[in-house]
Amino acid sequence: MNFTYANSAQIFFGQGQIASVATAIDADAKVLVIYGGGSIKKNGVYDQVKEALSGHKWIEFSGVEPNPTVETLDKAVALAKSENVDFILAVGGGSVIDGSKYVAAAALYAGEGWDILERKYQVEKAIPIGAILTLPATGSETNMGAVVTKSATQTKLSFLSPAVLPRFAVLDPDVMKTLPERQLVNGLVDAWVHICEQYLTSPQGAMVQDGYAEALLKNLLVLAADFDNRDNDSWRANLMWTANQALNGLIGSGVSQDWSTHMIGHELTAMFGVDHARSLAIIQPSLMRNQIKYKKAKLEQMAVNVFGLSEGEDLSEACIQAIEAFYNGLDVQTSFADYEGTKDEAVDAVIAKLQGNGMLVIGENQSIDIATSRAIVAQAF
Ligand code: NZQ
Ligand code: ZN
Repeated sequence: MNFTYANSAQIFFGQGQIASVATAIDADAKVLVIYGGGSIKKNGVYDQVKEALSGHKWIEFSGVEPNPTVETLDKAVALAKSENVDFILAVGGGSVIDGSKYVAAAALYAGEGWDILERKYQVEKAIPIGAILTLPATGSETNMGAVVTKSATQTKLSFLSPAVLPRFAVLDPDVMKTLPERQLVNGLVDAWVHICEQYLTSPQGAMVQDGYAEALLKNLLVLAADFDNRDNDSWRANLMWTANQALNGLIGSGVSQDWSTHMIGHELTAMFGVDHARSLAIIQPSLMRNQIKYKKAKLEQMAVNVFGLSEGEDLSEACIQAIEAFYNGLDVQTSFADYEGTKDEAVDAVIAKLQGNGMLVIGENQSIDIATSRAIVAQAF
């Protein structure tokens, strides 16, 4: 094991913490507040932000859509440049926070912002960002990743840079009270898969990473089993903290990771509009079965340590079935048929996109080539 780890994002956790923004941002900074389609206006979050920023100069940009598009975000980039903003405050879910990371980086880059997603430009500087999280799922509030879509070509790509790690994140579970049930479920599933992508590889003897990943997975199982009692402070707080810890870099430190489910899932979102989390539930079981020879030992470990299954034959397949049952129990589908035309045409289209985006060989062992991706998608459709 060999790694360097830092996560300098300050976390303000708990009820009433949005007020902390007042002192977390320099008093003389000119702030650009970025938000989405208006949920924050309906649930009082916007008013709390306004109150917290009453001593600051600030402007706003709204209308960042779920799966944020470069077409929309470039308007915010132009605003950030023309208004010379010193700080960006993202108020929303993963889409708003990711979008704000793109704006923060693109505003300090002279070329086309999309270069960042095509990895033609590695982001080295960005306007500082803070985040007020309203939907626990992605972990974007304290990580350095972002995913942006070009709607003109239905291309969904990601970038990573320490420069866009938020300086702080406010995690007030009260903001979740207005979340539609669908989004709460998405949060449980996305966080679950984030842990799996860093855990379901091969045994690495990493006791801290494995043990913490297993604790987080067990939290999500408990919260899902207790879904009927979700209108509860403790339920909300535990989901918010678990989803944050699932993707803040810690459990992935020094171990191999496999983000193939995400890579293939992103194509389903870009092409068919499937919610991010739901795209993962469609692909992951099929991918696990396809890659079982590499993942058998960790699936067996997960079966015992997370699901409490006893040693026995076919424990790895039993683990995949337990994962499917977790999704299905939340009314999340593990296969997909909502495409036009034949199954072959739909699979071909997904594979062509994956290929076009350069995902020719993926997986922690580079064992998923295009033919294997095709088999995985065909099994999921
Ligand atoms: O736009 P508004 O009106 O705010 O409504 C949003 C949106 O329609 C609504 N919402 C958010 N908070 C709410 C609320 N509605 C009522 N009450 C609240 N408190 O929820 C809808 C979905 O929001 P979105 O931000 O799109 O969801 P999520 O947080 O799941 O983010 C998904 C995006 O994050 C990317 C995904 O690919 C996708 O684009 N990801 C980012 C990652 C990262 N940066 O590390 C990792 C993830 O794997 C993921 O790929
Ligand atoms: Zn995700």
